[in-house]
Amino acid sequence: MASRGRPRPGSLQALAAVLLLAAASAAAAGSPDRPAPGPPLFLPLTRSYPNASRLAGSLRRGLDEGAHPNARMRLHDDLLTNGYYTTRLYIGTPPQEFALIVDSGSTVTYVPCASCEQCGNHQDPRFQPDLSSTYSPVKCNVDCTCDNDKNQCTYERQYAEMSSSSGVLGEDIVSFGRESELKPQRAVFGCENSETGDLFSQHADGIMGLGRGQLSIMDQLVDKGVISDSFSLCYGGMDVGGGAMVLGGMPSPSDMVFSRSDPVRSPYYNIELKEIHVGGKALRVDPRVFDSKHGTVLDSGTTYAYLPEQAFVAFKDAVTSKVHSLKKIRGPDPNYKDICFAGAGRNVSQLHEVFPYVDMVFGNGQKLSLTPENYLFRHSKVDGAYCLGVFQNGKDPTTLLGGIIVRNTLVTYDRHNEKIGFWKTNCSELWERLHIGGAPSPGPSSDTGSQADMSPTPAPSGLPAVSCF
Ligand SMILES: *[C@@H]1O[C@H](CO)[C@@H](O)[C@H](O)[C@H]1NC(C)=O
Ligand SMILES: *[C@@H]1O[C@H](CO)[C@@H](O)[C@H](O)[C@H]1NC(C)=O
Ligand SMILES: *[C@@H]1O[C@H](CO)[C@@H](O)[C@H](O)[C@H]1NC(C)=O
Repeated sequence: MASRGRPRPGSLQALAAVLLLAAASAAAAGSPDRPAPGPPLFLPLTRSYPNASRLAGSLRRGLDEGAHPNARMRLHDDLLTNGYYTTRLYIGTPPQEFALIVDSGSTVTYVPCASCEQCGNHQDPRFQPDLSSTYSPVKCNVDCTCDNDKNQCTYERQYAEMSSSSGVLGEDIVSFGRESELKPQRAVFGCENSETGDLFSQHADGIMGLGRGQLSIMDQLVDKGVISDSFSLCYGGMDVGGGAMVLGGMPSPSDMVFSRSDPVRSPYYNIELKEIHVGGKALRVDPRVFDSKHGTVLDSGTTYAYLPEQAFVAFKDAVTSKVHSLKKIRGPDPNYKDICFAGAGRNVSQLHEVFPYVDMVFGNGQKLSLTPENYLFRHSKVDGAYCLGVFQNGKDPTTLLGGIIVRNTLVTYDRHNEKIGFWKTNCSELWERLHIGGAPSPGPSSDTGSQADMSPTPAPSGLPAVSCF
């Protein structure tokens, strides 16, 4: 959904748009059955490789047979400074580089098009179809909305607060960076001709859609049988940012906690949230509160968390009552009625000494413990002050959990098994923590980092043309 506004993300509109799209693509897909996913990629869990990058090549070659490769990618940017996390994606031949917000709440992946009439200034030059020898437009057909000339398929996404993106659909070779085992693949993406709101003003170039739906990069790669039906995100922590992402399967740590995620219940990645505990004590709210409308939705493209009114009031009151030693102050922005507390000190590692732990209990009784950095953001004007990054979702009874909730948490969207796993870890050191070699650690956001994952060389030959939508 890529909502970065604070008071509420206006999820209604975005949800409606995706629902329509999901329905349309389900109809277009014909057969609902996907090819059976292959075995997940197992990497050694017990050994670490000191010279990771040198050994990676032999490791990859050894795994090529049978198991699906995955795309291991770095994340950049930060929740507070940017409101989002991005990854680098390369499109075309030769590859053109883009910084895309990773969004589990939407499906189409899009970048500004050279022909764009209304696009903002972003991080990278716009995509130039003419400069790519492998680009082809998605031809107008009965299953898509065509442009005025009846030549090419179009897409349109409406988000909250006048934020929107529209353009044409094209197909080209997409590559996932040098650290990725997955070879470049042909994929359909949007070439934007217009953007408004946040999408116009943001620094990032566009969105990488990981949601459920035929245009999602996940569905496209899974339908081609090149990855197994799972992806993982690990967002770096407060003041650190960055992190890691894996498209395709990866081994789950044994103490990962899971919630069921029912694709029939909602087109979004929902979880079965039953209770929230603050400082070990359950909020006194009816569990059905978390199952209203779309239920509890996990959306990596939304910055903060939004609770239905009853749950929000209970949460705010519970946290406030636990921190009476701190002074309640105004937020950094007079436009928002943020709830902030001063006097907690600058050191994020010590926040748990002042702020309570928060637990989320799932339908199966499993429990995810959140640290203060999962529900607080740093006050940008007062040192040592923090504000609640959890808001009331207006009058919308949907519970929407954005990126803040999963900072320093490995989140595995196991679509094949219809469950989502959570594992608290330091996302800046994910590979070391998993004892996985083969790629350097996902570093914090910095421009020196992007130098490391240089443009890969795609292999354009011999790839079958993908049929229309
Ligand atoms: C790692 O690589 C460096 C430089 O190539 C080499 O000097 C060192 O011996 C290697 N270490 C191991 C454990 O292979
Ligand atoms: C922050 O707190 C941790 C844990 O108490 C401590 O190890 C670390 O040295 C502190 N960092 C700073 C900069 O004071
Ligand atoms: C996580 O690891 C990074 C890099 O090693 C470090 O800078 C950061 O302080 C760590 N975060 C926590 C919460 O320990």
